[in-house]
Amino acid sequence: MLMSNFLKNRKSIRDFKEKNVDKKVLEELMDYGRKLESNTANNNFKFILVEDGKLVYKALSGKGGYAGVMIKSPHYIALEFLDESDECIINASYAMESLITKASELNLGSCWINIVDVEEDIKKVLFELKNGKVDYLLAIGYPVAKNPFGQEGESCRLAIEEIVYKDEIGNKIDMDELENRGLSDLFYYIRFAPSSYNNQPWRFILKDDRIVLTLMCTDNKYSLVDAGIIMYYFENMAKSIGLNGKWKLLHDEGREVDKVFYKSIGEFYI
Ligand SMILES: Cc1cc2nc3c(=O)[nH]c(=O)nc-3n(C[C@H](O)[C@H](O)[C@H](O)COP(=O)(O)O)c2cc1C
Repeated sequence: MLMSNFLKNRKSIRDFKEKNVDKKVLEELMDYGRKLESNTANNNFKFILVEDGKLVYKALSGKGGYAGVMIKSPHYIALEFLDESDECIINASYAMESLITKASELNLGSCWINIVDVEEDIKKVLFELKNGKVDYLLAIGYPVAKNPFGQEGESCRLAIEEIVYKDEIGNKIDMDELENRGLSDLFYYIRFAPSSYNNQPWRFILKDDRIVLTLMCTDNKYSLVDAGIIMYYFENMAKSIGLNGKWKLLHDEGREVDKVFYKSIGEFYI
């Protein structure tokens, strides 16, 4: 499927059939995951499949998910960070989104689940962790069919002008310039990427020769997971319009603009 269609139609699935996913399908998904682990520089994350979803649901009920609302699914995939570097979190979440794309090709629905605040001891036992850390899970399974006559809740998205700036944060972008440089579709579609609490903290600064991805600080932190996710979609959308670049990570301390903190995460030459 075209990446643009995929992005426009994708959404987080929170209602799953109780039916288990075929073993072969789970194996295909996890084989793909193993490839993602080994193809990533530093090999610093791992996907852990928990086939018995009941075990995870029971342990994390009232603890995992937004305000303890745990999502019930037949299986879960934990994303284990093997070190504490920014690069590890960005690489891991980039790869998780690639795994989600594969899951969708296999007709599986999915939803990220935040388990940052769950006690480390519970997570250690549940996912048999040694030195790594699990802050996010993916719920996976067959989605419950939607009522074709029902109103489906759509998550809202910021406008292009609210996430793309010219040369520096706050400088309005001219939509004609985006159109003339062949970048308007790219920015239109990547807005449909998922983000934690739907915060959409990504801000893009268009320069003459490159685009800088900057994260806005929300709730006193920079969500590097959201950065990794948007970098995945950006690269893939860029490829579909003939831009074959890759993000280069930047090591920025961050700065304040109009009482909001921002940190540059990466640059993409165009
Ligand atoms: C890192 C991350 C963590 C998330 N955690 C949760 C969660 O704990 N519970 C939940 O219901 N949705 C969670 N989501 C899903 C987002 O709320 C969702 O992507 C966003 O609201 C946009 O909706 P959409 O994915 O349907 O487009 C998470 C998404 C991301 C990217």
